[in-house]
Amino acid sequence: MKKPALALLIAVMAGCAPTPFIPVPDAAMAAKSGERLPLLQKGYGVYMAQCSRCHEPMMPSKVSESDWHIVTPGMAWNAGISESDEAAVLKYILAAKK
Ligand code: HEC
Repeated sequence: MKKPALALLIAVMAGCAPTPFIPVPDAAMAAKSGERLPLLQKGYGVYMAQCSRCHEPMMPSKVSESDWHIVTPGMAWNAGISESDEAAVLKYILAAKK
């Protein structure tokens, strides 16, 4: 019974946005943001695994930097991830926006 609703939700969300492009961390992103690449890769992994459970992963560029600071703790609570995972996700998101 859950599947049709989920498919509809995804269809609705996909309808109002182009195919999400989630940037993969690389050396250039690390250099630009001044973060360590392993930390960004960890954040990316958590982001893809946890933050797409309830909705398509939101494009980092879709939300402003100050809003990400507000949204991430709430969504980390939604996802039930640890504080260090949350910190890595936020670092990754902010780096990906640069
Ligand atoms: C347990 C389900 C769940 C998980 C896991 C989850 N989200 Fe969400 N998210 C939601 C729901 C429901 C909404 C829409 C309602 C809302 O805005 O509160 C939402 C909305 C959002 C928004 C839009 C907020 C806005 O104000 O426009 C962003 C950005 C977001 N989520 C990011 C994330 C990130 C990053 C993660 C991983 C840390 C995550 N979500 C994990 C359920 C979840």
